[in-house]
Amino acid sequence: DKTLIKDKLNRPLRDLRISVIDRCNFRCTYCMPAEIFGPDFAFLPKNELLSYEEIERLAKIFVELGVEKIRLTGGEPLLRKDLPILVEKLSAIEELSDIALTTNGVLLPKLAVQLKAAGLKRVNISLDTLNDELFGQINGRNVSTKPVLAGIQAAKEAGLGVKINMVVKKGLNDSDILPMAEFCKKEGLELRYIEFMDVGSTNGWKMDDVITKQQMYELINEHYELEHTGAAYFGEVAKRYRYKGTNVHVGFISSVSESFCSSCTRSRLSANGQLFTCLFNGNGHDIRDYMRTGVTDEDLKNRITDIWNARNDRYSDERTQETIANRKKVEMSYIGG
Ligand code: GTP
Ligand code: 5AD
Ligand code: SF4
Ligand code: SF4
Repeated sequence: DKTLIKDKLNRPLRDLRISVIDRCNFRCTYCMPAEIFGPDFAFLPKNELLSYEEIERLAKIFVELGVEKIRLTGGEPLLRKDLPILVEKLSAIEELSDIALTTNGVLLPKLAVQLKAAGLKRVNISLDTLNDELFGQINGRNVSTKPVLAGIQAAKEAGLGVKINMVVKKGLNDSDILPMAEFCKKEGLELRYIEFMDVGSTNGWKMDDVITKQQMYELINEHYELEHTGAAYFGEVAKRYRYKGTNVHVGFISSVSESFCSSCTRSRLSANGQLFTCLFNGNGHDIRDYMRTGVTDEDLKNRITDIWNARNDRYSDERTQETIANRKKVEMSYIGG
């Protein structure tokens, strides 16, 4: 039985992003800089992570409250042991129209076939440059693009939908905007250019580092004619275009220059079972410990409903120097973007 719920700004709850692990095999400078996430960094021990049974139980409750789409994130979600087992449990939930995963792609050659068989529909793979040397610097682990390209190939061959995420940071990888367009166009991959965001408090973000959607659009449009196409689903974060005369799409995620909070239907569950109502709101609501006291599904449903009903987040709409400096935020690796 569905009980559709709304927040204070009348936004329904439609998406659930679940971080299944806080660890990653990369140390991207803009997400988990190696100086901070070093060998002594205290990641969550296993008993603090939500178990697959707990995630399944919560997912069912979220679906009853209106969630139609679930995305698994991390850290790097493929580092969580036996992830296909979780995907299988989730894909057995009726009324869920989409199950997706955001990954750096490195483990896809090993897991793509199993994930597809378990019911995963699609993957978004991060790739910020085709230049091996630069990629090694950005991922902080000196890994070349080769394993990621192999991951993209493996996902395609397994029959998964594939999109590519490129975070663009001025002076770092802006010279890769066109080469990435050309590569993805040729390969028939939907590429999304992402404005560098002030997530967390470890990535040293400055407005000067941002190349806006408009700037990227103009650059690409000089070389390949773009035509606007509609969103693929309500509340999609990317603004989508198509290379004229082809079926290949390209998108821009303009969280900084053109915010999209008014249609934000996303909730986020961190790896240790806290519920976050905005990527930029660091006040998580404990669900895990409450669940572990032995409450009923009805109790959980009420708690989640209360949290969503009270939600009034619209950080990207309100971003100012003051909020950039003073808001309490969550680390990206904790809630997976
Ligand atoms: P699709 O389901 O394929 O549309 O994926 P998605 O774009 O919603 O998810 P993905 O994990 O691929 O995220 C792409 C980029 O969008 C990342 O940089 C996310 O941090 C960012 N993003 C996703 N949701 C939000 C959001 O609600 N607010 C903001 N500001 N950024 C978001
Ligand atoms: N700004 C924008 N996107 C980011 N991501 C990680 N950190 C940032 C940031 N500071 C992206 C990753 C991945 C997605 C989940 O979020 O590249 O594609
Ligand atoms: Fe890992 Fe993705 Fe963060 Fe890079 S952006 S450190 S791949 S979680
Ligand atoms: Fe949603 Fe917060 Fe992102 Fe706005 S900034 S779109 S409210 S997650």
